[in-house]
Amino acid sequence: MSTSLRAQEFCQRALTDRDNFWSEQAKAIHWEHPIDQVCDFSRPPFSRWFVGGKTNLCYNAVDRHLPGRAAQPALHFISTEVETERTFTFQELYDEVNTFAAVLRSLGLRRGDRAVIYLPMIPEAAFAMLACVRIGVIHSVVFAGFAPAALATRIDDAEATVLITADIGLRGGKVVPLKRLADEAVALAKLSPKSVLVCNRGLDPKIPWTEGRDVDYATFRKDHEKEVVPVEWLESTESSYLLYTSGTTSKPKGVQRDTGGYAVALATSMQYLFAGEPGEVMFAAADVGWAVGHSYGVYGPLIHGMTTVFYEGLPIKPDGGIWWKIVERFHVSVMFTSPTAIRTLKRQDPALLKKYDTSSLQRLYLAGEPMDEPSWSWISEALGIPVIDNYWQTETGWPILALLPKIEPPKIKPGSPGIPMPGYDARIVDPTTGQTLPPNEKGILALGLPLPPGCMPTVWKDDQMFSEHYCGRFSEVHLYSTFDYAIQDEDGYFFILGRSDDVINVAGHRLGTREIEETICSHPQVAEAAAVGASDELKGQAIHCFVVAKQDLPDSDSQARLQKEIESVVVSNLGAFSRPAAIHIIRALPKTRSGKILRRAILAAAEGRETGDLSTLEDPVALEAIREIIQKQAGR
Ligand code: PRX
Repeated sequence: MSTSLRAQEFCQRALTDRDNFWSEQAKAIHWEHPIDQVCDFSRPPFSRWFVGGKTNLCYNAVDRHLPGRAAQPALHFISTEVETERTFTFQELYDEVNTFAAVLRSLGLRRGDRAVIYLPMIPEAAFAMLACVRIGVIHSVVFAGFAPAALATRIDDAEATVLITADIGLRGGKVVPLKRLADEAVALAKLSPKSVLVCNRGLDPKIPWTEGRDVDYATFRKDHEKEVVPVEWLESTESSYLLYTSGTTSKPKGVQRDTGGYAVALATSMQYLFAGEPGEVMFAAADVGWAVGHSYGVYGPLIHGMTTVFYEGLPIKPDGGIWWKIVERFHVSVMFTSPTAIRTLKRQDPALLKKYDTSSLQRLYLAGEPMDEPSWSWISEALGIPVIDNYWQTETGWPILALLPKIEPPKIKPGSPGIPMPGYDARIVDPTTGQTLPPNEKGILALGLPLPPGCMPTVWKDDQMFSEHYCGRFSEVHLYSTFDYAIQDEDGYFFILGRSDDVINVAGHRLGTREIEETICSHPQVAEAAAVGASDELKGQAIHCFVVAKQDLPDSDSQARLQKEIESVVVSNLGAFSRPAAIHIIRALPKTRSGKILRRAILAAAEGRETGDLSTLEDPVALEAIREIIQKQAGR
């Protein structure tokens, strides 16, 4: 197997000749004020990139392209939910973003304020994000599949003064009443936003309205049409957005993003990794509520002068050929999606892939969860193009591991996302000490500090979380922990082996077991609960819950009732994508003598595997009971 030498050399330079490498990359974006210092690492583990430089994400994504690309499409919107298609050129995007920014300013938003965006995949989501960063307002997009309680927590933590939403969203024809959910969230939030800005699609005739607080976007849009809002030149280190993500604590963490470092990281990755040419079309089939939607659905392609595609709809509706139809229709050259989506498409009629002309497509990128080899081979052969796995986290904002097609033809090792990208000092380390392990030994994938540009500089309002949770995990060295197990082979390729903490990955969506357990325990009849991520053929992992009721349930009817109620508590608190695949009512949870729930053993039982060393188990009967339930259910 040949190794990826030229790409490795290129990436290595970002570490050995750090400041020169990154100041060269920084030339890809516009700086209103030049950079004084490339990297300030005087206060480890915190780093600050391109200190002194002033720039703006919106200017780089939109204004900068007007002289040469005003008439080029910037955003294609296609919805199979409402059967609509619309294209916005860079000039039109500029106009829409300015109008949106003027509306936000009229609501009193100023540099440093926070706005929460709770919108479906409609163009207004991109306008809102770009408008915020244009005026220095920090946005926090909350995935429109989240339930009111989850939205309320994020509004409170961000201390948002404006909430931007729509009347409804749609998922496979099913209505998601966003405005109603937003109202519930505002009622639950401790700090109510002053204004709720509503992009009314005219799809809910009885949209609830609170006078004095709710603002109709269309009305304000008319008032502010053609207004030009000057760009706020932000310090490179100033925040552009927050994106909440689940971890081991029950409270989601606000991943903070800077401005200049992020712009440079995206420009670098767009050029060398995604390798699309300005003027070409990129289709990231990812919701704006997730990290991929931010970096490669909005900011990355636009900064690079590419057209982005916003798709509202499912990958299998009206049929499993819809994505390939979009590729044909818009001549997409770079596409990005998740392994779960590929596994879903693999179950569809293979003829659908041949029905459309996908010859414009140069490469397909996949991220968010492990890619199984059979599905990777299937899609690679079906499309006849490189299918590039890439590994990263919401925290990093752009890929940690991937390949660099711009530097050399990608040398793919199936099952591996590749090699560390520029600036990532990735190593496999001993889980306790942090000492680097030899090739092919399993350990934690850790990153040397400083983290490269684009990665989170800290956790929102919680420096301690950044320094202790992320960077203080090992006893002997200061390293950023990804919390993923991995190995590195002798060619330098990494293989991801799964999380070392209690984070579950359902179809590429990250969920913390603690979040789910605490939600279940809010039910008055529940004494305690454990949630595990059991392997699932389609979604990678699925949530299995084991619940102990406060009182014995006399019959199967009362058990079934409690199961239903627990399911609805989880869905209504966290969102439909968190719906457990199984809820088991049991008599006791298997625990260690010190009272710690033995999740590892529960997981093994849920997956029908051997449970391994159980010497610390206090009560073997509890585990046996779980095993019996699972076996009975599976008919084993
Ligand atoms: O466990 C890893 C898994 O997803 C986690 C990050 O989740 P999230 O922040 O939602 O990611 C957003 C950006 C893609 C990681 O810690 N993960 C991500 N990509 C891969 C992966 N696991 C295996 N292979 C990948 N390519």
